[in-house]
Amino acid sequence: EAAEKGGYEHFMIKEIYEQPRAIRETMSSRLAKDDSHIILDELKWTKQEMAAIKKIVVVACGTAYNAGLVGKYYLESLSRIPVEVDVASEFRYRSPLVDENTLAIVVSQSGETLDTLAALKEAKRLGAKTLAITNVVGSSISREADQVIYTWAGPEIAVASTKAYTTQLVLMSMLAIYIAGLRDTISAERSRELISGLRNLPAQLHEILEDVESIKTFAQKYGFNEDVFFIGRSLDYAVALEGALKLKEISYIHAEAYAAGELKHGTLALIIEGVPVIALATQHDVYEKTLSNIKEVKARDAIVIGIAQQGDEQIKKYVDHTIFIPQADKFLAPILAVLPLQLLAYYAAVTRGCDVDKPRNLAKSVTVE
Ligand code: G6P
Repeated sequence: EAAEKGGYEHFMIKEIYEQPRAIRETMSSRLAKDDSHIILDELKWTKQEMAAIKKIVVVACGTAYNAGLVGKYYLESLSRIPVEVDVASEFRYRSPLVDENTLAIVVSQSGETLDTLAALKEAKRLGAKTLAITNVVGSSISREADQVIYTWAGPEIAVASTKAYTTQLVLMSMLAIYIAGLRDTISAERSRELISGLRNLPAQLHEILEDVESIKTFAQKYGFNEDVFFIGRSLDYAVALEGALKLKEISYIHAEAYAAGELKHGTLALIIEGVPVIALATQHDVYEKTLSNIKEVKARDAIVIGIAQQGDEQIKKYVDHTIFIPQADKFLAPILAVLPLQLLAYYAAVTRGCDVDKPRNLAKSVTVE
């Protein structure tokens, strides 16, 4: 097992560090050389078929569900098709409104999660076109879906998913650009902008991984707090959900993610002196609004760690510590912003002496209901 860990203490940290390479694999041979379009030769949809799609449902569990939430932003905003995201165990029991004009996308690292597989079967039964995004070739879900695209992240061993999530995000963004291309809802310029942004990601992830000392220090300092809140707006909210899940799964710290604007409708009552709040502020279009939410928690004496894009000098005035991510398009920022959150969870779990790779009560792949 030590050999398999390649010198790392745990599979999880090894997999965190594998992300630049994993993402490169996800993108390899799928970006046109001149950045003009996405190549997904696996997909056999015609322009007419895509024009007929009236709704997309994304169904998944756990981290893959969180990736689906990010996917919703990508797909809706680029392809202008309404998207619903559902937890697989809920989807199958609520008579979903799905028909032959629906595209059902199931996301599953393992391709074996029973609830996701059952949801896929249900969507098929109702006549939907189905697509699987998975990491495991030949898995049950890949065999059941009409079409499949692989994340090519390589084997993920740690129970807490890291490189599967970031590669799912990359693939979701490529899929959204691809579908938008078929539906003529994306300009050549926007497409090129996003594709060149995607190309920068491996080097940018690498940059974050080169300096993890401050993240380690925060984790050691706050690793013994019992509650942590994650706040953000728009795509930052989706990333906040994944950050909270990671922390809960492996460090057993109670963590909650909130849409920053929703705090004042209840959760703000829990924000008291010394409570750590991780505030994501990478989305320029809602930046000022997020800052005002940060001020709200700061006014209650929370300890605020801000996650922001490099060059953001303003945020430093309102938070206790800042972790910067390299500058990126708002769509691609989540793929970078999740990295400090994975590292925080990892180092918090190590600080608390938890069994990082095999957290209590959890399994890598849940093949029972
Ligand atoms: C389990 C794992 C999670 C994972 C979820 C979905 O609960 O512990 O890390 O996100 O299953 O797994 P899947 O293989 O379908 O992505």
